[in-house]
Order: sequence, then C-alpha cells, then structure tokens
Amino acid sequence: MDSEYNPIKIFSGNANKPLAEKVASYLGIPLGQAEIGRFPDEEIKLRISENVRGLNVYVIQPTNAPAENLLELLILLDALKRASAASITAIIPFFGYARQDRKVRSREPISAKLVANLVTVAGADRVVAIDLHAAQIQGFFDIPADNLTAMVQFAQYIKRKELEDLVVLSPDVGGVARASTFAQTIHASQALFVKRRLSPDTVEIQSLIGDVRGKNVIIADDAIHTGNTMLNACNRALTEGAKSVIACATHAVFAGDSLGLFARSNFSEVIVTDTMFVPGREYPSMFTVLSVSELIAKAIYSIHNHSSVSALFQL
Ligand code: R5P
Repeated sequence: MDSEYNPIKIFSGNANKPLAEKVASYLGIPLGQAEIGRFPDEEIKLRISENVRGLNVYVIQPTNAPAENLLELLILLDALKRASAASITAIIPFFGYARQDRKVRSREPISAKLVANLVTVAGADRVVAIDLHAAQIQGFFDIPADNLTAMVQFAQYIKRKELEDLVVLSPDVGGVARASTFAQTIHASQALFVKRRLSPDTVEIQSLIGDVRGKNVIIADDAIHTGNTMLNACNRALTEGAKSVIACATHAVFAGDSLGLFARSNFSEVIVTDTMFVPGREYPSMFTVLSVSELIAKAIYSIHNHSSVSALFQL
C-alpha cells in the first residue's frame, strides 16, 4: 500500500510489536515511530515522533495483563488525538479485562464496560477486536466496534488436514455460536459441554450434549487462561469415546506454568494465535501458532477503503 496516496499510519505499543510489524509489512508500510519509555519512577512517558495531522491512524495493542498494556494504549490514543489525527482506530487483538462483563454477584464491577469507556474517552473513533470474550461487549462501545474472529484461520487450517469424522465442541454454553460457525464451515457436527466454573482456576464439566464417540474432536474456545477448561474438556471427550482431540483457542494466555500442562496432556495438537505476545515464550512441539496479522491487515484495508468488514467473517 502506497502511504503517500493512502494516508494510513499504524502505531504499536509494547504489548505485541511483532504482530504490529507483521500487519504493517502485510500492508507494505512502515510502523509509525513513537517513543514509549518510562520516567525514573516507572510511569509511562510517550511521544509520537512523526506528524499524524489529518491521517487515518490505527493503533495495535492488546490489553491483556499487565495493566501497563492498557495504559500504554490509552496514552497512545490521547497523544494521537491531541496531534490531530483525522481518525483513530484502536485495534485490540485481545481485549483484556473482558471476563467481568456483567454483575454475576452483588458488588462486582463490569470491568469490560469500564475499559470500553476508557478507550472511547481516550480518543478512539472506532474499535476492532478479535474473538471478544462475549460478542455483546461490542455494545459497550458507543463508537463502531467490529468483533473479528480467528475461527476463519482455524477452519482453514483444519480443512487442510482432511480429517474425517469431525466434531467441533464448545467447552461451555457461551461459546456455542463461535463453535457453530466453525462446525458449519468444515462440515462437521457439533457438541457442547455444560461447564460450571467453581473458582477462577477450577471448572467442572457437568454434561455432554451431542456425540463424540469415535470422532476427531476439535475444542474451540476464545481463550486459554489457566487451561482448566481445555484440559478438563479434553479428558472428558476422551472418556466419552473421542478418537482424538485438538484444541483451537484464539488468545494464548497460559497463566502460571499451564503451558507445561498442555505438553503433558492428551491433546494431539494445540492451535492458538498471536493476538498476545509473551517475550521468551517457547511453545511445546505439539503447538501450532497461526498469525492474525493478515486478518487485521485486511480489516484495516477495508475500514480505510470504506468496504465491508463482514467479508472477513465469512469462512
Ligand atoms: C470462558 O468463558 C472462556 O470462554 C474460556 O473458556 C475461559 O476463559 C478459559 O479459562 P481457563 O483456561 O482458565 O479455564
């Protein structure tokens, strides 16, 4: 893309620079220059190093923990707004702080709404996310918000394997719609576990709806945090007679030492994406990491050219 005639600029914080670089390279433009450092007391100090007046600017920054990632995004948005960018799109490949998206018990926050407010007030005119924890979080933004899905990549990858007797299984009720699109695309049947979360790191699979006996099961989820959901679902699927189990999850958090648990698990393959970046992380050999860079680049191209983003949802 010729930046002289297409005044797009892409900026990135420090949360996932490798992904932002891939997106910029896909679009054939360099990443915008910004100095993002720290004051001696560790507060964020930032300056956009080039002119953005009148430009359409895209900021790529996931907001997974630590909260510094969110703060960097907010401060970047503020700087770009004050520098008179014509429009600012916040591309949040992994929208963190999304799990408290409703009051389940009294005196709980709705953190997802708070973060949506912060992003809007900081200066975003539009938001693009990938596999939001719950699709309705889109409605927490009073600006246009697109919820892309990495299920596109997963389906294409699985199709190439030419596996037979496939079932796409959602490990909980909340993921049924996501798993359903996936299943339809690869012409697989569908199943569902009814899951109960006992604590942030304990889940219990209560029952299976559908049939996995003798099937190659693909468990599709938005995220792996502690891994309890996926690992329990894998073991239960095998107990129910599954032939093999593959995990597909968009956001690869792997809290604590949970990555190691997957290396010792019964999964034949674990497929994740690069929506978040953990410096120095090395994935065990049974992992496949698909990049969402092309998906994001195509979304930027569509937004910039006022063409349909929904085409990206079609598998
Ligand atoms: C739950 O609603 C989500 O879709 C994921 O299943 C969940 O975030 C996974 O968390 P964990 O890996 O800790 O079980």
